[in-house]
Amino acid sequence: MIKEIIKYPDPILRKNCEEVKEATEEIIKLCQDMIETKKAGQGIGLAAPQIGELKRIIVIRLEEGPRVFINPKIIKKSKEIEIGEEGCLSFPKLFLKIKRTKEVEVESLDVDGKTIQIKTEGLLARIFQHEIDHLDGILFIDRIGFWQRLNIKRKLTIYGSN
Ligand code: CO
Repeated sequence: MIKEIIKYPDPILRKNCEEVKEATEEIIKLCQDMIETKKAGQGIGLAAPQIGELKRIIVIRLEEGPRVFINPKIIKKSKEIEIGEEGCLSFPKLFLKIKRTKEVEVESLDVDGKTIQIKTEGLLARIFQHEIDHLDGILFIDRIGFWQRLNIKRKLTIYGSN
């Protein structure tokens, strides 16, 4: 089912998400809803809190299609930093240049509860970092400079995020 995407400044986006302990029916349904919602929203990635579920689950579109990552963790980072443009379904029409680690290795569970490790770089590494941030209540506007953030927050609060 396609869910409504929660937009900034909803406080849900600032909450910490819980680890998934068991693949219940509910969790499987949530993963399905996330895939459908991400597709409808035309995003490359979506995190569970963006549809109001405080669970450590993200969905990312890979070349072969959308894939679910449960309890994802960055286990290795390169020292190199890259700047690239990012958007977020919770901030319509806002695109920001963000500094991210160039390469990250992510460990997570897949939908069958199997542990997987994935090495990523460039855009994909950037998406993983953005989505995993959501699980800790961190948003991309937190990763820009103070003055730029102040300006953006002011605009978003005065004019709304639409
Ligand atoms: Co986002």
